Amino acid sequence: MKIKETLAAEFDQFSDNYTEDMIRCVPHYLRLLSGLSEHLPGSFSASRILDLGCGNGNVTALLLDKFPDAEYTLLDASADMVALCRKRFSGINMTCIRSYFRDYTFPEDYFDLIAAGFSLHHLDSREKQWIFPLLCNGLKQEGIFACSDLMISKTSPEHEGLIEEWRAFVNASYPDGEKWAWMTEHYDAYDRPDDYADQEQWLYNAGFRYVVTKWRDGHWVNFIAGK
Ligand SMILES: C[S@@+](CC[C@H](N)C(=O)[O-])C[C@H]1O[C@@H](n2cnc3c(N)ncnc32)[C@H](O)[C@@H]1O
Repeated sequence: MKIKETLAAEFDQFSDNYTEDMIRCVPHYLRLLSGLSEHLPGSFSASRILDLGCGNGNVTALLLDKFPDAEYTLLDASADMVALCRKRFSGINMTCIRSYFRDYTFPEDYFDLIAAGFSLHHLDSREKQWIFPLLCNGLKQEGIFACSDLMISKTSPEHEGLIEEWRAFVNASYPDGEKWAWMTEHYDAYDRPDDYADQEQWLYNAGFRYVVTKWRDGHWVNFIAGK
């Protein structure tokens, strides 16, 4: 598989066998996804939810079990991913928007919950520092931003070790090495992970009152941040 020229086209292509590829290519994928729903405070309820970088809707599907009556907004740059969501959730009252984050007007004081599963590592450090205040403003008071992702800068001294472990994980499922070769190209072109500690600081700078790690294994992290 060759990588595509834009992120949207890249994920159009990736949408074909997305969930299985993610399970086999991303350590702890299912564990980190379920954390977005399971690690919310017991007393928390949500009536408006934004799935930021929804992909094929795996995060929304989990949240629907917990918040069946909420109003959902699903946002993604990939037309094919958004089309999968429209099909998957047909009959359910939700808004699916095909847009890059930079072109979306985030409403203010609107969402109870914003969930981002493996989408923010596509933004570089500057873009994360741009979007975190918009997410904070977009939440109602007491609202929560929940995020699961890879959190390590490519310049970290631990990055090389992470890549070695990751390569072994992927090659265990795809021993011919082709999948890892594609992933390396994709990672170089489209992935811009940052250290957790930096993101934590940027979240506080953006106005969040607390940031709590709920689960992590190495640099694979699930956290919640509260307004
Ligand atoms: C790795 S997938 C994760 C999908 C889903 N949240 C999940 O956890 O399975 C990342 C998704 O985020 C979307 N995405 C990444 N950066 C984006 C941006 N700047 N604007 C809109 N969508 C973006 C991609 O199109 C892709 O569908």
